[in-house]
Amino acid sequence: MVKEIKTIKIGSKRLKNNLFLAPLLGYTNWAFRELVQKNTEISVFTEMIPINALSKDSNYCKDIIKKGDLEKNVFYQFFGNDEEKLVKSIQNILDLGISIDFINLNCGCPAADIVAQGAGSALLKRQSKINTMIEASKKAFDIPFTIKIRSGYDITKHLDYNKLEDSGLDGLFIHSRTKKQQYSGKIDLNFLKETKEKTNLPIIANGDIHNMEDITNIHNETDCDGYMLGREALSNPFVFDEILYGNYSTFQNKLNFLMEYHTLLLKDQNNSTFSNAKNLSMFLVREVRNASKLREEISKTKTFFEITQLLKKVE
Ligand SMILES: Cc1cc2nc3c(=O)[nH]c(=O)nc-3n(C[C@H](O)[C@H](O)[C@H](O)COP(=O)(O)O)c2cc1C
Repeated sequence: MVKEIKTIKIGSKRLKNNLFLAPLLGYTNWAFRELVQKNTEISVFTEMIPINALSKDSNYCKDIIKKGDLEKNVFYQFFGNDEEKLVKSIQNILDLGISIDFINLNCGCPAADIVAQGAGSALLKRQSKINTMIEASKKAFDIPFTIKIRSGYDITKHLDYNKLEDSGLDGLFIHSRTKKQQYSGKIDLNFLKETKEKTNLPIIANGDIHNMEDITNIHNETDCDGYMLGREALSNPFVFDEILYGNYSTFQNKLNFLMEYHTLLLKDQNNSTFSNAKNLSMFLVREVRNASKLREEISKTKTFFEITQLLKKVE
């Protein structure tokens, strides 16, 4: 393996490599994660889980808290701003017999409805609440605790990392853009470098990582400990095989992935099987010729069979 790819220790657990699948609401359910982990030993994130709802009733979130039988090293990501609800939510998952390998608190979501609740990136303005949530979880459970942050709210601003360490934090995932930047503009490598200099916590970089070249660049500029990929994995679920082993995929591989994904969700009687598969197919066709026309055709489909008929025509 190249020097950028190495093992990483988060809390008491050592992971075989430092690659992570980002949380992507509507996409990174258990079936997607299990298929991505089939040939790689990367770690994966759930979609963000609302503690306001889960603390009251675990049935409400049953599709997003499900863990596949073959999955390993799953980070359960929660959003909310209340330590008691966080602890209750974690307990509700454990009570269902689901083991939680790692916990992650969302401190980066820029969506207006989430921020209005004082959750997601709103927490960046209220670090004492993040500290309290970490402390409450660490007191109740022996599970490594991590947070996913942005480089700031309106402007770039560091958190007090010593306080986070004292609260029991075990790792920092950084989407290196401010909340104001949403998802565009270049990621701030300087912020990652500065953070790495300010703390001994493992730092995992996120934002616009597409391939080994991007990883090498971030490694050289920041000395970060790990790399998290989001949208690239939706367009190419084999990107981790490519980075780790140089196994490049074809469009046929992607189509097979989509069909396996659909079959797994269907067997599970997932409530959103068709819409999940349709949304994923929109990402999978990103690189094909006439992608926008194809997307328009996919958007009109009413059955999974219609989607596969369209994708089989791709050269
Ligand atoms: C459709 C979509 C859903 C997302 N859902 C979540 C989420 O549930 N939790 C979270 O922390 N970030 C979420 N994000 C942000 C990603 O995890 C990631 O930080 C961001 O897309 C930048 O990484 P990328 O350029 O590799 O995609 C989402 C992003 C997208 C595009």
